[in-house]
Amino acid sequence: MEENVLFDPPAELSKNARIKSMDEYRALCKKAEDNYEGFWGDYAKEKITWKKPFDKVLDESKAPFYQWFVGGKLNVSEQCLDRHLETRKNKAAIIFEGELGDQKVLTYRELYYEVNKTANLLKNKFGIKKGDRVVIYLPMIPEAAVMMLACARIGAIHSIVFGGFSADALRDRVIDAQAKLVVTADGAYRRGKPYMLKPVVDEALTDECTSVEAVLIVQRNFEEIEYVSGRDYIYNELIKDQPVKCEAEVMDSEDPLFLLYTSGSTGKPKGVQHNSAGYILWAQMTMEWVFDVKENDTYWCTADVGWITGHTYIVYGPLAMGATTVMFEGVPVYPDPGRWWRMIEEYQVNQFYTAPTAIRLLHKVGNDEPAKYDLSSLKVLGTVGEPINPDAWLWYYNEIGGGKCPIVDTYWQTETGGHMITPLPGATPIKPASATFPLPGIIAEIMDEDGNPKPKNEKGLMCVTKPWPSMIRGIWGDPERFKESYFGTAKKNGQPVYFTGDGAIYDDDGYIVITGRTDDVINVSGHRMGTAEIEAAAGNHPHVAECAVVGKPDAIKGEGVFIYVVLKGEDNLAEEVDVMKEINQIIVKEIGPIAKADEIKFVPGLPKTRSGKIMRRILRAIAKGEEITQDISTLEDPSIVAKIQTCVLG
Ligand code: PRX
Repeated sequence: MEENVLFDPPAELSKNARIKSMDEYRALCKKAEDNYEGFWGDYAKEKITWKKPFDKVLDESKAPFYQWFVGGKLNVSEQCLDRHLETRKNKAAIIFEGELGDQKVLTYRELYYEVNKTANLLKNKFGIKKGDRVVIYLPMIPEAAVMMLACARIGAIHSIVFGGFSADALRDRVIDAQAKLVVTADGAYRRGKPYMLKPVVDEALTDECTSVEAVLIVQRNFEEIEYVSGRDYIYNELIKDQPVKCEAEVMDSEDPLFLLYTSGSTGKPKGVQHNSAGYILWAQMTMEWVFDVKENDTYWCTADVGWITGHTYIVYGPLAMGATTVMFEGVPVYPDPGRWWRMIEEYQVNQFYTAPTAIRLLHKVGNDEPAKYDLSSLKVLGTVGEPINPDAWLWYYNEIGGGKCPIVDTYWQTETGGHMITPLPGATPIKPASATFPLPGIIAEIMDEDGNPKPKNEKGLMCVTKPWPSMIRGIWGDPERFKESYFGTAKKNGQPVYFTGDGAIYDDDGYIVITGRTDDVINVSGHRMGTAEIEAAAGNHPHVAECAVVGKPDAIKGEGVFIYVVLKGEDNLAEEVDVMKEINQIIVKEIGPIAKADEIKFVPGLPKTRSGKIMRRILRAIAKGEEITQDISTLEDPSIVAKIQTCVLG
């Protein structure tokens, strides 16, 4: 029953919220619709500390390469640091807790100096200039944020690679971005034990990485590592002598701020490019609107800085608005599954933002753990990364939020830079598993490929029909792929519009429910992966003739990796167990442990159309144990379906 009920925002929260009611929300939406450029231009003037004001809000002449706040000059690190010094110099900017319980607080003043010193180091010691790419392969330690902001300060473009990626994956990203410097750590801690990062970098940096001039190493766990003389430098030593002030580079609104590689449905991961002004504006505005963080609040997002959520909602958004952001190195279940709840109590966290997969994991552990802690400081709960099931939503709402904290189910993507569709905590009546409505200024519509809106309860394409400031500016080095991937599917009034890759429906109340990807991208524990990448890795096993990867629903992870493998003709089935192990070893080597298969099934063939296209829909249905309802007569060999079913179901 509760699943269909609307939960109103608590009156007390609404009273003081930045957006206090649905009327206010609708008025803002109308303002944006009536005068789109005026709406965005006013916010850009109000929120950003410009070095030089912009001349034009939006330039659509090179669509879909849209340009925002044309002619404006700023520096994102100044937006996040310098301008807060007058009023917030002694306020905590970052509260860090390490896996082993070590704690560190950096005030805005301290963070400002750390960033300045690091910027000087990058510039003076390593010759990093505006436009150079710096790959950051760091654990969740404050130095990751310092490094990002130091790059921003000198105009270098950072590209963070998540620590769970393998040496091969790191190498691909280093080469694609032609990075000049790689920043890493000796290692970090996971589940209480040290693990190593630097050896992965050593393995990644082969002769192919001709662009890399140096490796900068942050000492985190002080484990013994090898140093390559003339290439490797220790951050902790070099930073000591750096001057504490570094002039911020004058950056154009449209100068790139960072690249972040993400998976698509085909080919290699793509380097999603975000630029300066539009990105930081929306990072800040969504922090303010969606989490409604107040001056003395403590905000905690549990994401990793290696993903977009960590970029926008651990570092850039919170710091741009002058908030206190908690950063945690570890996992939710170490040393026990009460870790996060203890931290909420200890730091008196007011806004807590995490992923459905973690919520499901902690839900499974039960109510005893959260019940041990005082969670009454919480005001707003957030979730992101994949659809959340009503069960997990209700547990989060009742057991963690005590039935008094709105849940903001924020729908967005690496490419969107910030939130797109989400409740507003003081305004939107919420319901389980709905991201509700687009934010003011975001023109998001569920439609068909020709731009016709979908009626209620009919699945359509989740599109954004007007450009927005924090949108992806390009795929690094591949403008054609950018156009094709995002603007090649749907049109409105004959003009290409942005398609997210997700399906969605308007429910009976007109609320938006995201139904998941419509392309060959899967979401495993909130990690976005292309099935094509996993297939390419598995296909490298010498016994594999061909394979197909699909996502199989998983109670905790959302989706698990399920691989159908066709072995080469003469190969002996007796070797299957070894082959399974080896396939996973190859996946771990080429991508990383996050892409490991949960299930591998050997089948005599794959269901293909006469033109050779693999019918993944059939494979998804078989993996789920569903009946095949679709017409299989068009398959090259319809009998293959029953044979595959026998292999999978036994
Ligand atoms: O499928 C959608 C899902 O995650 C995808 C974006 O993944 P990524 O770029 O890695 O960014 C994740 C963090 C923003 C989307 O295409 N997704 C994200 N948030 C939600 C979601 N699906 C349903 N509900 C959400 N709140």
